[in-house]
Amino acid sequence: MEIRSDFLPLSRPAIGPEEIEAVVAALTSGWITSGPRAAELEEIFRAETGAQHAIAVTSATAGLHMVLTALGIGPGDEVVTPSMTFASTVNQVALRGATPVFADNDYHTMQVIPEALAEKIGPRTKAVMPVHFAGPPADMDPIILAAAKAGVPVIEDAAHAVGTVYKGRPAGALGDVAIFSFHPIKNITTGEGGMITCKDGELANKLRLLRFHGIERDAWKRYGKGGTPHYDIREPGYKYNLTDIQAALGVVQMKRVRELNARRGALAARYVAALSGVSGIDLPGVPAYAHEDSHHLFIVKITGHDRDAFIGRLADYNVGVGLHFPPCHLLTYVRERYGSKPGDFPGAERAGERILSLPLFPGMADGDVDYVCAAIREILSSGAPA
Ligand SMILES: Cc1ncc(COP(=O)(O)O)c(C=O)c1O
Repeated sequence: MEIRSDFLPLSRPAIGPEEIEAVVAALTSGWITSGPRAAELEEIFRAETGAQHAIAVTSATAGLHMVLTALGIGPGDEVVTPSMTFASTVNQVALRGATPVFADNDYHTMQVIPEALAEKIGPRTKAVMPVHFAGPPADMDPIILAAAKAGVPVIEDAAHAVGTVYKGRPAGALGDVAIFSFHPIKNITTGEGGMITCKDGELANKLRLLRFHGIERDAWKRYGKGGTPHYDIREPGYKYNLTDIQAALGVVQMKRVRELNARRGALAARYVAALSGVSGIDLPGVPAYAHEDSHHLFIVKITGHDRDAFIGRLADYNVGVGLHFPPCHLLTYVRERYGSKPGDFPGAERAGERILSLPLFPGMADGDVDYVCAAIREILSSGAPA
């Protein structure tokens, strides 16, 4: 086949004229840090998820940090989470001085196995943190049940899950608290950014304080007409507030989220149709429970070729890919600090050796998918290293 001349990236944000106009309006409004636009984005998330509270932050990583702090998780505590997740989930537990305790993932669906997670809940467990992986939700009912039995909160890592629905209920209001990501690869972006959603008003208040130095009132209200510049701090906080420049982008992206996710879904369906029955590649396993998929990532497993060599071959075709993710229990610091080792989590490890994320973003043409699939078939049929 003929090699394309331009590079097809793994992802590209879907920024249109409306986003640009909204950002310019924020820039010229006279208030560019957190203000009415961030509040509007929070309102949209409350409405979309059904969660009572939404707190806009600088990233999902910041959100995880704040949530673990607000829940009082620290030395001596354990947080049960899947091994197959981005390092950020686990790093934040480690940075609080707590211990991440891993549960295995299903090789096919890549979701955490609920029974495996439930088994790891013990006397030191302070929270469970399932991850909605790649677009479909984790199987939340048994996870919520196990956590309720143990009396510990459920933190949803919803970084991949803007638009994900589990049995008719949106991600973000399934557990006690959830964290979304607006990194540029995600389903909607604010450049960098994130959103925490939660049920409990007291937790929401704590999170709002932690977001901005521990100061009790929003700066945009303090500095507005009728506000007072005085403030007090009872507990120190971080500096994790989302700017209105970024929120302006997010508000427009959220207006388009259904259309953007539908396009992702159509591209994913095209991959599935073109690659079904091709030997040497496993397609994403679809969870059996009722759900709606945000189609954040399209992750295949390369079984008929050395995966890393395969990445190099796809690069020769001018196709970019991703690896989501190396299993966290095998990261050097995790092995050294917590004693995990190869063989501990066979589902995550089997997937980790074979996974490959193919290009998937709303601006892709159908022909781009066809091109990637033709390249995959050609590489797999070349009979090179297995
Ligand atoms: C599962 C998961 N959790 C958390 C994060 C962190 O998100 P952010 O980049 O917004 O900090 C990511 C980012 O890729 C992720 O994939």
